[in-house]
Amino acid sequence: MSRIYLEDLKLAVRQSGIDTTIESFRETNIKKRGKAVTSIIEIDKGGNGIKIFSKCYDTSLYHGIRGYSPLEKQLSDELSTEESFDYEKKILRTLNDVDKNIAPILYSVVESQRRIFMEYIEDRSLQWKFIELDKEIVGLEEEIKGLKSDKDSSERKNEIQNLKRQKEYWVKKGIDYIARFKKACNNNDDRFRRLGIRELSKKEDRAVFEDYLLRILLYSNDNLKNIENVRSFLKDKGINISVYSSELAEYFFREVTSDEEIALIHGDMGPHHVRLNGKIIDFDEFREGSYYYDLVRFLKNPFVNQPERKIPAYLANYLLKELTNGEKIDQEEIEKLSIEDIVNDIVGRERFASSLKRFYDINLKEDIHIAAVLRKYSPKAIKFFTRDHPVYKSKKRLIDWRLDDINNILNILLSDYGREYLLRDRYSTETIENFRSFFETTGLIRSVPSDMFSLFGKEGNPDANKDKRLKNHKNKIYA
Ligand SMILES: Nc1ncnc2c1ncn2[C@@H]1O[C@H](COP(=O)(O)OP(=O)(O)O)[C@@H](O)[C@H]1O
Ligand SMILES: [Mg+2]
Repeated sequence: MSRIYLEDLKLAVRQSGIDTTIESFRETNIKKRGKAVTSIIEIDKGGNGIKIFSKCYDTSLYHGIRGYSPLEKQLSDELSTEESFDYEKKILRTLNDVDKNIAPILYSVVESQRRIFMEYIEDRSLQWKFIELDKEIVGLEEEIKGLKSDKDSSERKNEIQNLKRQKEYWVKKGIDYIARFKKACNNNDDRFRRLGIRELSKKEDRAVFEDYLLRILLYSNDNLKNIENVRSFLKDKGINISVYSSELAEYFFREVTSDEEIALIHGDMGPHHVRLNGKIIDFDEFREGSYYYDLVRFLKNPFVNQPERKIPAYLANYLLKELTNGEKIDQEEIEKLSIEDIVNDIVGRERFASSLKRFYDINLKEDIHIAAVLRKYSPKAIKFFTRDHPVYKSKKRLIDWRLDDINNILNILLSDYGREYLLRDRYSTETIENFRSFFETTGLIRSVPSDMFSLFGKEGNPDANKDKRLKNHKNKIYA
């Protein structure tokens, strides 16, 4: 029995612009995910094969298929599939209307099966590209360890440099694609708003932060087996978690989204959702948010994994793309510009400074998110999800990464720099003390090493020399 009806498929093929003589078809690559089942429909048409991508939100149609691991099942989403289906189809249709190059073409929708037939994009994702490059880099690094001659290892080092440049090229490309996507959405803002996109909500933000904080606690303390235990643990200590989450929500709401920088965002902009040809996929988290959110999400992704010191350059590139309206930008010309040129002449200093600040605000939010997510997943689960990533084959590096993330949060929240940065003039220093006592009282950190304050200069880049110094602090900070 086939789940796909010939008539439905014929319609999809017709909409794709190719004529409809279908000789036979196969459904392959069936993957059951949280909310939907994706598959590829391979069609034979008089000797020509074509492929169509299917995303089906009625997962019950696929009951009994193999390849749905208990882990995936356990972590699967509980979102209403009907709602997600409606949402994704509306967004995709509108994206097609505003620009054919930014998302897969929607061919047809089978309402009775909650299925979307769309263009199959042959190009792989940026994530795949990054994994391939990382694999080569890791391989060469391993080789160097076993080499005696300097000449041999310097050759390998050059190759590594070359691979890193390639990676940077694709990161930049990704940023271009994201900026283009963003612009197409925001230039057609009203069309999306008419669809009823998810709006920003302080209440929701608060719930999210509460969840983040609870989960960070839950997985930082082996004795707390579930969220209910965490709640009673907090109650015993007289800690009211909603105070902390409200403060975080208040902070982010005002700082990040108080003005014109509310924009339409993709919401889940990782390299896995950016194809090498520039098309973006997966729209069920499309919503209102801060203009920089997608960029932060992308750069924060562990597969992208770029040094913090490069952030200003990436941000300048992003802003540059955002500012040039419709004109074609000569990529080579941009390459010739230095970051200072871009900032001074094109983006403007003031604008750039405020954007950078926003960037770090959202960065912090993303840190909290990541720390919570990492703690939600057991190390086994993280390994499962990162099984294709060479860097995570080594457990030590995986743990380093987790520590870095929790450190980012703690550093910003607890340092003098963080105090200044987060609160500026508008807030009392109580908030920061609140967080400190929250982390300390709950046992997430035993104490904040006093010399940690020196990690941040009063001015300048908070990340200068951070990496090196942090190494020495890791064990102390992490209880
Ligand atoms: N149009 C497409 N062409 C080719 N592959 C696609 C397409 N859409 C999605 N995919 C692949 O399927 C995966 C899951 O699709 P996605 O829309 O992200 O679903 P989910 O909402 O379950 O994350 C993507 O990561 C990508 O590898
Ligand atoms: Mg996805």
